[in-house]
Amino acid sequence: MKNNESVVERLRSAQKVVALTGAGVSKESGIPTFRDAQTGLWKDYDPERLATPEGFLADPPLVWQWYDMRREKIADVQPNPGHYALAELEKMIPVVVIVTQNIDGLHAKAGSRDIIELHGNITRHICFDNRHQQEKVPLKLKQPPCCRCGSLIRPDVVWFGEALPPDSLEKAFAEVRSADFIFVVGTSGLVQPAASLPYIGKQAGAYIVEVNPEETPITDIADCFLQGPSGRILSNLIEQLRAIAVEESG
Ligand code: APR
Repeated sequence: MKNNESVVERLRSAQKVVALTGAGVSKESGIPTFRDAQTGLWKDYDPERLATPEGFLADPPLVWQWYDMRREKIADVQPNPGHYALAELEKMIPVVVIVTQNIDGLHAKAGSRDIIELHGNITRHICFDNRHQQEKVPLKLKQPPCCRCGSLIRPDVVWFGEALPPDSLEKAFAEVRSADFIFVVGTSGLVQPAASLPYIGKQAGAYIVEVNPEETPITDIADCFLQGPSGRILSNLIEQLRAIAVEESG
């Protein structure tokens, strides 16, 4: 594994950085991840019942209220230094693209501008049958309202067993293929097809830097594994880039 210094050097000379992010990047904002053994959402909640189309049809109010509760919590949450560091990177590198599995909208809130949301966004809604987009849906409804076409309304997120939005997926593949530097931040690397993006980037020649407190299947192919919380690690990298820029300008 190469050291932090070579990461800064690589980053400095990068023309296009793609950051692949997962739930871990939002953990320091107070949003639980999914697979953490103690605090992960899937420890207390059943993904089959809550995050599949079959689960929704079996019990629409249950699924609606679970997402409503999460949407309400997320509305008050602020980005953390990890999100801000990735947004800041846009001022230092010609092209920075965020490809996120997160549905919380925190990268946009932090100021990142080029974001691909692979798993949708919890603040948006569509109808189940025809994917008609909905105007703002109020919080605290006990059950899903109906679309003009009569179908139930659901959150615009990708559930298990569903295909990712083809345009977003295609764009994400193209971005990792043309990146020279890829961050893989706060994802367990277990959910496809997002989990294949670092491998595709690596094959195409990108330098892969993983940021995570724990090792994952991606650690094996990473050129550098920066172990720790993304808020601290990413802001530290930005500080180092800034210091070099100041030194050079002086
Ligand atoms: N900073 C960075 N990474 C962290 C932090 C932190 N402070 N805290 C935890 N992590 C890491 C964990 O070690 C883990 O590897 O974040 C990762 C979270 O993994 P998951 O909970 O599996 O989340 P994610 O990979 O985003 O899940 C993918 O699964 O349930 C579905 O649709 C859901 O988008 C989600 C997908």
